[in-house]
Amino acid sequence: MGSTRSESRQSRGVIEHYREYLPVSATTSIVSLGEGNTPLIYCPQLSKRVGRACDVLVKNEGVNPTGSFKDRGMTVAVSKAIECGAKALICASTGNTSASAAAYAARAGISCIVILPAGKIATGKLLQAFAYGAKIVAIDGNFDDALRVVRELGKEDEFVIVNSINPDRIAGQKTAAFEIVDVLGDAPDFHLLPVGNAGNITAYWAGYREYERHQKSTKLPVLVGFQAAGAAPIFHNRVVEKPETIASAIRIGNPASWKQARAAIAESRGAIDIVSDAEILAAQSWLAKHEGIFVESASAAAIAGLFKCCDSTEAAYSFRTIPEASRIVCTVTGHGLKDPDPIIQQMNDLKPVAPTVNDVRRAMEL
Ligand code: F0G
Repeated sequence: MGSTRSESRQSRGVIEHYREYLPVSATTSIVSLGEGNTPLIYCPQLSKRVGRACDVLVKNEGVNPTGSFKDRGMTVAVSKAIECGAKALICASTGNTSASAAAYAARAGISCIVILPAGKIATGKLLQAFAYGAKIVAIDGNFDDALRVVRELGKEDEFVIVNSINPDRIAGQKTAAFEIVDVLGDAPDFHLLPVGNAGNITAYWAGYREYERHQKSTKLPVLVGFQAAGAAPIFHNRVVEKPETIASAIRIGNPASWKQARAAIAESRGAIDIVSDAEILAAQSWLAKHEGIFVESASAAAIAGLFKCCDSTEAAYSFRTIPEASRIVCTVTGHGLKDPDPIIQQMNDLKPVAPTVNDVRRAMEL
């Protein structure tokens, strides 16, 4: 009754929805863009691919306000930063964190500085940071170098770091696990996701465990994380000095939440595995063409990973003998439109034809 018509019509956002599980108080002023409540989509073709009467569901985080899962953590991190009197936010990013930080900073009316590896950010993400008015600094180095610089700058009072080393980010991101349990009525049996800086796998595990403690679920899922083969420090158990992959969002050689990711994998009796760039691109295309879900390449690592679990004798976790009727959730983390370049390379030039039915028919048959 207290809310105005326009407020009551707004999407609530993850803080309003899961307030009692988040580090906010009645006086925290909430910075939200209506993030979260993303669809958990049953995928018949993926389910058929797995067989054994299993259900595969895709948690489509690409439909968040800035097109990635980062918004869940950013609403909490930015609301808390404002509460603490922050004047400026700072982050290192492979693209999505910077887009999200820039948007929430704009919403909060504070400045945002983003430190990015030069020439390594997908077009759509760079464009977002620019459009939302962030101060963009490109460095001659990779994401790990950018994060090192940000950690140093964060020691000064001027800036609040909004990378996932900020625990408020992880707190916000765990709401994705809550949503999955709320929709399914229990935790899934398996949860697959891409791994870069390893914040998200850490957040999911925290969310599943917290919900189980509150008896919202009766079990915990097995977590299986996927790194790109050329950027797989956790898989190889060593820092990768020069990480390389087409999936630029997860081109990370020294993840900040490495230890937490290892713990989540061990505690859930899961695994960490790798997928090649070719497998990632094939999975991205497959998901778009068979399920109508277009995701960025880093997100497709989860789908490539699912295929590997089903098909490969080298899979770190094989699905060949999993219980019948298991429920498998794959998180796809970012929208496909963020990173158009790899797709554009696969497209042929469109040669216009004359605007007649005959010419169009002829062109259709090509
Ligand atoms: N998928 C996408 C689309 C991402 O942008 C990221 C991370 C990940 C997966 C991996 O998540 O780091 O929590 O393990 N992107 C960060 C960024 C690093 O700067 O946008 P993670």
